[in-house]
Amino acid sequence: MHPDVQEILYSKAEIDNRVADLGKTLSRDYDGLNPLCICILKGAIIFTADLIRQMDIPLQLDAIAVSSYGDSTSSSGIVRILKDLETAVENRHVLVIEDIVDTGLTLHYLTDLLNRRNPASLKVVSLLDKPSRRKVQIKPDYLGFSIPDHFVVGYGFDYAQKYRNLPYIGILKKAVYSS
Ligand code: PRP
Repeated sequence: MHPDVQEILYSKAEIDNRVADLGKTLSRDYDGLNPLCICILKGAIIFTADLIRQMDIPLQLDAIAVSSYGDSTSSSGIVRILKDLETAVENRHVLVIEDIVDTGLTLHYLTDLLNRRNPASLKVVSLLDKPSRRKVQIKPDYLGFSIPDHFVVGYGFDYAQKYRNLPYIGILKKAVYSS
């Protein structure tokens, strides 16, 4: 285990199992719809890569980069588009792939933005949810795990851009971000 990690919240095997389940459900729900899967960079890269390989249906992949946190541990509430999609959303069945819903501000902003582009449908799959932190009413349609308010790193989650490559989801030691 990485020395900055206090405890492993979800092991690689637990994540793999849950992602495989989500992939099965999504393959069934999106069968014949050729969904446009949108990865929210950068945190959701790892989840997206694993999830779409568990979906055995034709699909398309695009990515959008937004930033709300900077290098801080709490949401600023300011959402900026850093890189837009390359694919037209109109009349497509859009599946937004997010790593975590925290305050919900990012997803709220993004779903508003994408809905204005007239998709045939728009749903969200998130690996993690922290419902206790919510500032706006929003809920992922498909969810990996609901978690308490821990600061998590690994499997795409970062602190100051570090730890994204850890294969598990761990709780970061407080000393690391309060020093
Ligand atoms: C994180 C995370 C979500 C968002 C969730 O992104 O990936 O997109 O914050 O927080 P919210 O519900 O409070 O809006 P971040 O801006 O840290 O970028 P990253 O994905 O590149 O790490």
